[in-house]
Amino acid sequence: MKSFEAYIVPWVKNSEPYSAKHMDVAWENPEVLRMMSNENLVPPSKRVIEALTKAAIQGNLYPGSGPELRKILGEKAGLTADNVVLGNGSTDIINFVIGTFVGPGDEVILPDPTFSMYKSRVLINGGIPVIIPTSVEYKFEVEKMIAAVTEKTKLIFLCSPNNPTGTLMPEEDLIKILELGVPVFFDEAYYELQDEVITRVGLIKKYPHMVVNRTFSKAYGLAGFRLGYVLCDERLANYFNRVKIPWNVSLPTIAAALAELEDEADLERKRKVVIDGRLYIQEEINKLPGIYAFPSQGNFVLIDAGILDKTALELRDLMVKKGIFIRPMSGHNIGKGFFRVTVGQEDENKKFIEAFSELVEEIKKG
Ligand SMILES: Cc1ncc(COP(=O)(O)O)c(C=O)c1O
Repeated sequence: MKSFEAYIVPWVKNSEPYSAKHMDVAWENPEVLRMMSNENLVPPSKRVIEALTKAAIQGNLYPGSGPELRKILGEKAGLTADNVVLGNGSTDIINFVIGTFVGPGDEVILPDPTFSMYKSRVLINGGIPVIIPTSVEYKFEVEKMIAAVTEKTKLIFLCSPNNPTGTLMPEEDLIKILELGVPVFFDEAYYELQDEVITRVGLIKKYPHMVVNRTFSKAYGLAGFRLGYVLCDERLANYFNRVKIPWNVSLPTIAAALAELEDEADLERKRKVVIDGRLYIQEEINKLPGIYAFPSQGNFVLIDAGILDKTALELRDLMVKKGIFIRPMSGHNIGKGFFRVTVGQEDENKKFIEAFSELVEEIKKG
């Protein structure tokens, strides 16, 4: 008898698993500060908890496709409910958009560094990631991305603000790529957190092959409930609705999002925590000789601690001993000793700066 291994489709068999182990380790060690996964460290509001409790009473019923929520999200973007598809987190969206455009052997252009989930979902769907490293200042190499397009290219991923670099993509660069006519996944996961909130969603009308991804995990702080949405041409939405699993977003999640959308003050409060926090972290890190914090428009800061001559993994382990999880950037096209820290609340950011400054002193003393 053949082993079941022989029956597994080759692209699944050969794909690299995305490791979510850091999340399990964090849950097992709740006393360690979670500054590794770009979550919002502000807990959900009372209004959200009440909405969840109310929705729980109807937990015996299947949810719909969230027409009321889609209408609000569509209208906020100058579109309609028909231009919005909800996802179980935007990771679900990444997966069903890839599933719509990409089959085994098709190519997908990805910058690097960027959100690593794009690559892992491309591989799982049988696609071939074509990786285009960013410039030394972490700008997307638009001309190189354009030059990499072939007959087999089915999708291009762009992220602005980009995770983990925090950089924005200029509109003229995006337009150059859109002019190719190849489908573009434009990820605005962090868009509400920019100093000046810029969106490219207005380009969908002229370029219906662009889709804009958003999430409730970052600015809105609802990562645990899992909700993302894609804004797109309604004909594309029809295809995404075929590929996505029905009832992919739960009733309590829809209720939580509606409650959050009614509460603009809560979003503004959370935005302020992140904007003030990232500036504080950046300024304090840049006081440490030889260590550099990149400016960011997301809820995270990329830090170059190469001068300490430790790998990012070693720095992570040393910081865990000081009670803080950070995210090593070793898996990316990025230098030794680079890590990303998530912006927390004021006291958490302070703890991070104290702990990291202490670590720098210890390493320097040897
Ligand atoms: C750029 C980007 N897109 C999407 C996501 C996924 O978010 P979620 O699946 O929670 O919506 C993340 C998470 O870190 C991200 O950084």
